[in-house]
Amino acid sequence: MSQAAKMTLRALFPTFLHEAWYPDFAAEKEPLIRRIYAIRDEDGAGREYSARHYPHGFTSFRSRDRLYTDPAFRKLADFMFQVAYDYGHKQFWDLENFELAMTQLWCNINSRHSFHRDHVHPYSQISGVFYLQCGPGAAPISLKDPRPARWMVPAPLRENRAENTLITTLPPEEGKLLMFPAWLDHGVSQQHEDADRISMSYNFELRRKNPG
Ligand SMILES: [Fe+2]
Repeated sequence: MSQAAKMTLRALFPTFLHEAWYPDFAAEKEPLIRRIYAIRDEDGAGREYSARHYPHGFTSFRSRDRLYTDPAFRKLADFMFQVAYDYGHKQFWDLENFELAMTQLWCNINSRHSFHRDHVHPYSQISGVFYLQCGPGAAPISLKDPRPARWMVPAPLRENRAENTLITTLPPEEGKLLMFPAWLDHGVSQQHEDADRISMSYNFELRRKNPG
């Protein structure tokens, strides 16, 4: 009787997507959303930028991108730090000699017809998004396979899964934090719901502790 051959399947060069649910979301949802609408009302430069570059939506990306200094978002930012450290530890990053710094945190309101074309977040290690308000038909985020060679002759699939497609789309979910490498190409398709889709985006970078 022949013995079963030993076989293993290993994943090399994986792209890690971290998902985490904000435990305080139920209590914080309304005040956080109110603060984001207040920021839109206050932020004339952001509205002007959005009118030119973010049609039908609002983003404070170019005007107020340090919302981690706003007391309204302090607890949420703390949670993002926790998740970012977990993300780094799980990938064996050197978090003894380097620390994570949040470099940007901004808000986005995707009203009907708005969208966000594909992009990456340069000069960061980690990027992602936190969802505050999204109805059942809210526009999904799409994440594109970053290995260009794979686009040449993809194998026919028996089943489309998030792990084997060239473009993975994920529906947004209120209270959920997504975290991924800053180099991962992503975008948001057009919002067709009347209700606003509200999210916050962020970047982290690794900085050497005690330089010099
Ligand atoms: Fe982004």
